[in-house]
Amino acid sequence: MTKTITIGHSEVTSGPLGLGTNKVGGHNLFPGLNDDDGRAVVRAALDHGVKTLDTAFMYGVGRSEELIGEVLRDYKREDVVIADKGAQDPDQDLHPNNRPEFLTRAVDAALQRLGTDYIDIFYIHFPDADTPKYEAVGALQRLKEAGKIRAIGVSNFKPAQVQEANQDGYVDVVEDAYSLVQRDAEQQLFPYLQQQGISFVPYYPLASGILTGKYTGDEQFGPDDWQSHNPNFQGARFKQIVAGMDRVKDIAAAHHVTPSQLVLAWYIQNPAVAVVIPGARKAAQVEQNAQTLSVTLTADEYQAIDGVFTNLPD
Ligand SMILES: NC(=O)c1ccc[n+]([C@@H]2O[C@H](COP(=O)([O-])OP(=O)(O)OC[C@H]3O[C@@H](n4cnc5c(N)ncnc54)[C@H](OP(=O)(O)O)[C@@H]3O)[C@@H](O)[C@H]2O)c1
Repeated sequence: MTKTITIGHSEVTSGPLGLGTNKVGGHNLFPGLNDDDGRAVVRAALDHGVKTLDTAFMYGVGRSEELIGEVLRDYKREDVVIADKGAQDPDQDLHPNNRPEFLTRAVDAALQRLGTDYIDIFYIHFPDADTPKYEAVGALQRLKEAGKIRAIGVSNFKPAQVQEANQDGYVDVVEDAYSLVQRDAEQQLFPYLQQQGISFVPYYPLASGILTGKYTGDEQFGPDDWQSHNPNFQGARFKQIVAGMDRVKDIAAAHHVTPSQLVLAWYIQNPAVAVVIPGARKAAQVEQNAQTLSVTLTADEYQAIDGVFTNLPD
């Protein structure tokens, strides 16, 4: 049976698998997307038991939220968990703004684009330079009391900023980069989050696709390819991750599942992870990822996967 996760101290509950939607309407971040694929990705999730949608104003500067809002008209609102993020200020060249009055306006605008009257989880997407973090979260607490949001999150905050944001105990969830090949959060964040009862949602769980096993290590990336700017796709580190995927593929084959399904199952069994939110470009990827929910790893398999990518070169 699929487990039910409670988000922090809130009343929001979620399944352990969600959908990342930066490739739903995120035209400003990823070239070549089309809106029909984006709508199909969201529908595929909701039709295959994946009810938590992770979006943000920044994905298409509102377009991802609008596409999700369009699809949601065909579903019962209470069956879906919307996790949204904001902070980028259109009046300041999209630089982060955490002022209480800006965040309050940002939530109202997001509600309009989503076509709903509440957002289940609202994250401050990025810290700004000068707003005291507890003041920013205080604004979200007032929005929570008003029923416009149901849980409070912060994302991309340094550990000290998370603690400052949580000064009054209002933070329910932190979203940050974490994957089998990027594990700093284990030392830097998890002890505090666990002590405070704050949930953790990792982004880049598939390390932008390298943990799907679809790379050979021999690919040549040009200066315009996004992989050229990602250390996981460079030199010895790239080769070692691809080599590690051979071990993952062996365990996946024994379960008759794909490497991505196995990797996603590892996060679902990781007690530090609340909800894993793999992104997708195509509905077929979502359908495949949804089958992860039926994969159970033995303790030995969990440990084996845990150890595959230790000691990677920088
Ligand atoms: N809070 C933040 O600042 C922040 C930052 C980044 C991301 N996020 C959130 O985290 C989510 C996840 O991050 P992400 O989407 O960038 O990276 P990811 O989940 O690590 O990787 C997603 C990519 O993996 C590939 N993929 C997924 N399922 C696959 C399958 N079944 N078979 C083959 N390939 C598959 C696709 O690559 P191709 O594109 O090659 O098809 C997809 O675009 C985002 O969608 C977003 O919601 C949040």
